[in-house]
Amino acid sequence: MRFWKLLYFDEGEFAADDNQDGEWNRGAYLVTALAHCGECHTPRNIAGGLDRDLWMAGTEDGPEGDAAPNITPAPATGIGWSVDQLTFFLKKGTKPDWEEADGVMGEAIADSYEFLTEEDIRAIARYINTLPAIENHIGG
Ligand code: HEC
Repeated sequence: MRFWKLLYFDEGEFAADDNQDGEWNRGAYLVTALAHCGECHTPRNIAGGLDRDLWMAGTEDGPEGDAAPNITPAPATGIGWSVDQLTFFLKKGTKPDWEEADGVMGEAIADSYEFLTEEDIRAIARYINTLPAIENHIGG
């Protein structure tokens, strides 16, 4: 399947952060090792690696030509969603404004995130919710 190949081409490394609790670290681990949010939501540098300075800040040049939005909590250009809103979105594909997830994001939810446990989705949402805010305008 095209989708899984896309998700598994770049195995990340994971080091637990002692300043955070277990749920947060579980979310950070799941995002890196399994959910691969960064593979789509982080732009690439010239060498083709993920640009860590723009971690989850979105890219115009995402998978299959889709732009992937900035999902950091940046007030102007990111998302300002609560942990509950993120959890609901990753489980059901519905955004706080009632729009549905599109394209490869919709596929990611329907093919995999939807099958994670509530605890794991919530852990992912906690981690995403605490990402450093990076202003990076995507689209338009
Ligand atoms: C295969 C590529 C891909 C992966 C993997 C992926 N996303 Fe996405 N994501 C997208 C694209 C493309 C969009 C834009 C489509 C849309 O908004 O419906 C999107 C949209 C979103 C949105 C909506 C943002 C907005 O402003 O409407 C959120 C939140 C999000 N993704 C979070 C995540 C999280 C968290 C993960 C990991 C658990 C993840 N995504 C994994 C490609 C991906």
